[in-house]
Amino acid sequence: MHNMNTITDSKDSIEPLIEAHRHIKGALLPLLHAIQEKMGFIPPESVADIAKSLNLSRAEVHGVITYYHFFRSTPAGRHVVQVCQAEACQACGANELMAFAEETLGCRSHQTTPNGAVTLEPVYCLGLCASSPAVQVNDTLYARVSTNQLKILLAQLEGAT
Ligand code: FES
Repeated sequence: MHNMNTITDSKDSIEPLIEAHRHIKGALLPLLHAIQEKMGFIPPESVADIAKSLNLSRAEVHGVITYYHFFRSTPAGRHVVQVCQAEACQACGANELMAFAEETLGCRSHQTTPNGAVTLEPVYCLGLCASSPAVQVNDTLYARVSTNQLKILLAQLEGAT
């Protein structure tokens, strides 16, 4: 029953967004952004409605959601830690930083800690390439992040360590 309610709620929340976008050309990306902004993720059960309203196949919609790392198919944790994995940061230790975050949090990239505290995600450029490696914790950007600094940032997040 609880699940039914959740699905109905998400349908009610998403329906007006679909209505607002359905006649716009190239609506899929703006619509997905609008849904994620409102819901925090793209509920998988909404894919069929999105596809139908935009005259696309479910596979096309699903393909776009999975292609863009930005979109989530499950709700995020209470905090989101993003470690830049794009080229400039890769050259400055981004791999080690991600490995350190995975080890410290006890979850893999793209996953949320079992207690729901932190979602760890790769991100592909935070606009701080000249000061890499870069990390974003919730809405705050950090440049030239060392593993030691990342350790301190994670320790400040409730439930992260
Ligand atoms: S490549 Fe990491 S901030 Fe641009």
